Amino acid sequence: MMDTTDEWITSRTGIKRRHVAGENEFTSDLAFRAVEDLVARHGDDALAGVDMVIVATNTPDALFPATAALVQDRFKLQAGAFDLLAACPGWIYALAMARGLVETGQCRRVLAIGSEALTKIVDWKDRSTAVLFGDGAGAVIVEAVPEPFGLRSIVLGADGSGAKDLHKRSVGRCLPNGVPLSESVYMNGREVFKFAVRVMNTATLEALDKAGMHVDDVSLFVPHQANLRIIEAARERLGLAPERVVVTVDEYGNNSTASIPLALKHSLDRGRIAPGDHLLLVSFGAGLTWAAAVLTWGP
Ligand code: ACO
Repeated sequence: MMDTTDEWITSRTGIKRRHVAGENEFTSDLAFRAVEDLVARHGDDALAGVDMVIVATNTPDALFPATAALVQDRFKLQAGAFDLLAACPGWIYALAMARGLVETGQCRRVLAIGSEALTKIVDWKDRSTAVLFGDGAGAVIVEAVPEPFGLRSIVLGADGSGAKDLHKRSVGRCLPNGVPLSESVYMNGREVFKFAVRVMNTATLEALDKAGMHVDDVSLFVPHQANLRIIEAARERLGLAPERVVVTVDEYGNNSTASIPLALKHSLDRGRIAPGDHLLLVSFGAGLTWAAAVLTWGP
């Protein structure tokens, strides 16, 4: 299909395998499956009291209605619903919105999903992007928990001057500065790489500082899974041992908003997360945007 090799992909990205949605399978279908999995794990009452659905995604089934509304209907929830677009960090942005809704008493329980059908928007002849992305979804419920559990800090940021380095056209034709928007995913890999390494460091330190914690307190580092070299650079800068870092990019590739919830599920399935653990999450992506969070896993 394109001029590439397994050796190039493995050595430059760490990706060994990706998962591709079926021809008639879209972001909503993957979101449904993630919620079904959540119900299978936590019982029929898992969705009781959910009064908001947020789907963080870059690949909504439609511009409207929101994919979140399709989830609301599928599970017959008495809930509001909206999609959130902040590129790969979108799911951490969704956590931040969910936390705000719960803390202000607006909502009781918020279903926060990251779901992507990214393989539908890449140019399968562009070797610089087509080899990177995979499809998937992850879902969590955010609700009030007693101290000392829950979200300790969240950092959200954006620098829209980097829009030229990572974009995909929707209804617009060009950026405000005249740069034409690409029909399929366009990425200046080297620029995004440099930005990612820098911001993974600054955002994580800021989140730890806001939480009143030190890197030594981190039980598990759960970074966005875009490239093993970026994860390794972030890990080394933070001074974390390899066993305290979750790596799933080899198995799933880059799932954008689904990347961190999938990494959490992967870690839970392997017994790597226990109540009381302090997790450090961080992500970066188009915008350019970034987000980091510190949370203490509940019982
Ligand atoms: N197979 C073989 N060769 C390739 C491939 C490929 N799949 N892709 C690129 N190359 C070539 C390039 O053409 C280039 O050749 P040249 O030197 O003759 O010009 C050479 O490999 C090196 O290219 P670079 O772009 O410098 O490769 P790099 O080591 O930077 O790796 C990569 C590229 C993997 C994309 C890296 O830059 C990266 O991971 N960047 C960050 C991407 C990212 O994390 N994005 C996340 C955000 S996604 C979102 O928000 C939706």
